[in-house]
Amino acid sequence: MNNYIKIKNLTKKYEKNKSIKVINDITFYFEPGKTYSIMGPSGSGKSTLLNLLSLIDNPTAGSIEISNNKININNKLKNDLIRARKIGIIYQDKNLLSDFTALENVYLPNLLISKEKQKSIELAKKLIKNLGMSHRIKHFPNELSGGENQRIAIARALINNPDIILADEPTGSLDSDNAKLIFKILFNLKNKNRIIIFATHNRYFANMADCKIIMNNGNINFTNAPI
Ligand SMILES: Nc1ncnc2c1ncn2[C@@H]1O[C@H](COP(=O)(O)OP(=O)(O)O)[C@@H](O)[C@H]1O
Ligand SMILES: [Mg+2]
Repeated sequence: MNNYIKIKNLTKKYEKNKSIKVINDITFYFEPGKTYSIMGPSGSGKSTLLNLLSLIDNPTAGSIEISNNKININNKLKNDLIRARKIGIIYQDKNLLSDFTALENVYLPNLLISKEKQKSIELAKKLIKNLGMSHRIKHFPNELSGGENQRIAIARALINNPDIILADEPTGSLDSDNAKLIFKILFNLKNKNRIIIFATHNRYFANMADCKIIMNNGNINFTNAPI
């Protein structure tokens, strides 16, 4: 099967407090076509796990396999390419480059890959339109509301048609109406080849996922949502 993520005995310790395993020997299989929510108290390792999955951070031990590709954590260049082509990432805030307009923020990650500026711009405009943001393409991030920033961030994360979408508390800074809208958009991105993984403190949104992962002290429990 394609477009899966397999993590095996994944472990992360930070140099500062070596005795604490932030991620403690986790083995898990993320299936294509499924949505996964991650819950757990602050400091339980949600962001650490997402940063490992996004190949930004290196595990202390264990392995990550994405679609038959065993990730070599030392091959930073290759991992940067895998991330650019396969993984869309959305954080709680500060997703966008402040000196670039909404349109530029969205098309730049595609231009890096396609090298065809006009095509990248057209694609970006289409995505921005789908998210109801066409009237804001020339705005800079500080001229957008929190919800608008997140919609542009989603367009940016989608521009290279990623197989994997990772969202770390994407609505953590939004009011409930905007949070609902962002999660509606996020769940609409589900397709049979794609894995969507998001961390949230909101039980209602977490329960909408196909599988719910609970983190505690570096360990995980999981259950099919809703519970
Ligand atoms: N760069 C770092 N250096 C040292 N400790 C860190 C670092 N990043 C995170 N931690 C620690 O790892 C634990 C998990 O953090 P994190 O993954 O951000 O949790 P969550 O996202 O669930 O709130 C926390 O105890 C945090 O203090
Ligand atoms: Mg976090």
